[in-house]
Amino acid sequence: MSRIETLIGDMTLAEKLGQLTMTAAGHTVTGPVIAGDSTEAIRAGTIGNLLNLVGAAPVREMQRLAVEESRLGIPLLIGLDVVHGHRTLFPVPLAEAGLFDPQIWERTARAAAAAAAADGLAMTFAPMLDVARDPRWGRGVEGPGEDPWLGARFAEAKVRGFQGASLGAADALAAVAKHYCAYGAVCAGRDYASVDISERTLHEVYLPPFAAAVAAGVAAVMPAFTDLAGMPMTAHAGLLRDCLRGRLGFDGVIVSDYNAIAELVRHGVAADLVEAASLALAAGVDIDMMSNAYRGALPAALGRGLVTMAQIDAAVRRVLDLKQRLGLFDDPYRRGATPERAEALAARRRLARAVGARAIVMLKNERATLPLAAPLRRLAIVGPLSSPEADMRGPWWAAGEVQDQVGVVAGFRAALPAAEILQAAGVAIESEDTHGMAEALQLCGAADAIILCLGEAAAMSGEAACRAHLGLPGRQRQFAHAVLEQARARGKPVVVLLFSGRPLVVPWLFEQADAVLAVWFLGSEAGHAIADVVTGAVSPSARTAISWPRAVGQIPIFFGQRRGGRPADPKDHYTSKYLDLPNEPQFAFGHGLTYGHFTLSNLRVTPPLVTPGEALQIQVDVVNDGARAAQETLFLFVHDKVASLARPLLELRGFERITLAPGERGSVRFLLPAPELRILGPDLTPVFEPGEIEILVGPCAERARLLVETIRLSA
Ligand code: BGC
Repeated sequence: MSRIETLIGDMTLAEKLGQLTMTAAGHTVTGPVIAGDSTEAIRAGTIGNLLNLVGAAPVREMQRLAVEESRLGIPLLIGLDVVHGHRTLFPVPLAEAGLFDPQIWERTARAAAAAAAADGLAMTFAPMLDVARDPRWGRGVEGPGEDPWLGARFAEAKVRGFQGASLGAADALAAVAKHYCAYGAVCAGRDYASVDISERTLHEVYLPPFAAAVAAGVAAVMPAFTDLAGMPMTAHAGLLRDCLRGRLGFDGVIVSDYNAIAELVRHGVAADLVEAASLALAAGVDIDMMSNAYRGALPAALGRGLVTMAQIDAAVRRVLDLKQRLGLFDDPYRRGATPERAEALAARRRLARAVGARAIVMLKNERATLPLAAPLRRLAIVGPLSSPEADMRGPWWAAGEVQDQVGVVAGFRAALPAAEILQAAGVAIESEDTHGMAEALQLCGAADAIILCLGEAAAMSGEAACRAHLGLPGRQRQFAHAVLEQARARGKPVVVLLFSGRPLVVPWLFEQADAVLAVWFLGSEAGHAIADVVTGAVSPSARTAISWPRAVGQIPIFFGQRRGGRPADPKDHYTSKYLDLPNEPQFAFGHGLTYGHFTLSNLRVTPPLVTPGEALQIQVDVVNDGARAAQETLFLFVHDKVASLARPLLELRGFERITLAPGERGSVRFLLPAPELRILGPDLTPVFEPGEIEILVGPCAERARLLVETIRLSA
């Protein structure tokens, strides 16, 4: 008999349920410690998995208790939210998505996994793959933005990166694709609220990133807190058992979200914890995170005949199988055995700086304000985000310590050692107090150029951080007006750095400021990365992975909308538009300026008639007719003109990057296999529908800027 079957044969019910239990180890990141002190329970074998433990020594000590002091010596599975880095933090995922570079997505995940594994951890609750089309929802910051195809590419890269070539390696983590599924569609952008979307939207928009994660071999999946049309995902047998395990073929572990099994009672689908635990187990949830429902209530559920021992054994088998694949039985101390070498740490910081600079989206740059012209004798860095290093981390900082974050001032001091750097907050991020404004304005008056640091605190996006107003909080608008006005009067350049975990709705700022950089939350090297772009050492290249609204009233806003029968027409009253605002976003998906200037021409698509077994070769010429070297990102969209169901106006099917020197020409190629042109038919399975398909290539999802060729798809 295999080791796992022998163990299952030896285990008491309490020990089995221990393997299905994950609890916080006395230190909590996202909620109160519900399960209390776990030490005795680990010895007794009634807690088999932990979360939220930071540091190699405590991890090793907990592991020792399980391996050396519990009856069966089964190692613990210990996880943490290593979402965008561990000790060294990379840009938040929404920002990193904007690199449109799967190699980088994979590299940062690999680096984060190595660092976390060096702390003894074996699981990360990442990648977060929720498509996010509503910036009121704070959790969009944790994922790859609005598009399912982009989300699927991000998913594959992150799973590869976290898990590496072999899950058993000392530097590999089990990835957890979360939050399955459609969490991003919460009603009115309010966290944890109910979700009610069509079957089609579920399959076309919200499932593809998860399908891609499963295809890439993701070890675990976490159901969302939310309900879908009344059925909480934690109990959703149709989507967990039938779709995820059945149709998608997922054979890994399903780990509940924090206290989500107990919350089935509050959802109103279970009368008590016994029913809640039974529903979750029957739906296929293997590990109960923080509810104490499996340990506490499955024995009674067995008694009531609500679950079977076979269901419990199946879940235990999957958990033990994952522990085996992670190599935990062979050597439970493999991870965390060797402290990281200084070179590894330095390499990670270099990567964080490079990726940080590449994640900055230049939203606006009038009068060639950027890069700031040298020499700068005196630079004023003002605004409430000019000082707090902690905020550079963004939501989910894992083991990132405040003192290891490089803020804006430190970044510019290092970049411009000869310049005098003056700093003042002016106003706080969120207060009504304006007494610091005068001093800040005075500093601005004394400087050659001004860096105006505005935005949200890191805690204003992420979990339970939704906002109904998406402007600048506190008195920042008033402060920004004053700074911009004074600088204009004195002819001084102002560069606005906009820190946020979402697109902020600040049309007035985009009108008044000459230069605005979306700097999101860039992680440990934020200050250096920002200075690199502002001084011109690095040419900005990122694109926004989410449509940027002009007004909250436009939300949800995304490029993959259908045209409808009355598309907007300014000359026709009875068409789909607002009376008081254009339909178009402030910045389209894919928007982002560079220090170059690119012109596209000569889109070629062959063959003009494509059959299901073929692929399209797509090519476009690009010239950098700007004055500086830069990297351009091009997007490939398709549009099925006439289908059995109306198709979105644009569907993303590719992205490529090209770097060109001033005056240099090049060409960008895409290969599009015909199966990418399939649509989901009436029964939601992929079909080829013959007919005309538009192939569109350009710098963003703004239709007027795309080159178009039409081909035919034959059956
Ligand atoms: C979040 C998850 C996270 C878990 C563990 C929950 O509150 O929704 O994304 O993985 O906590 O920290």
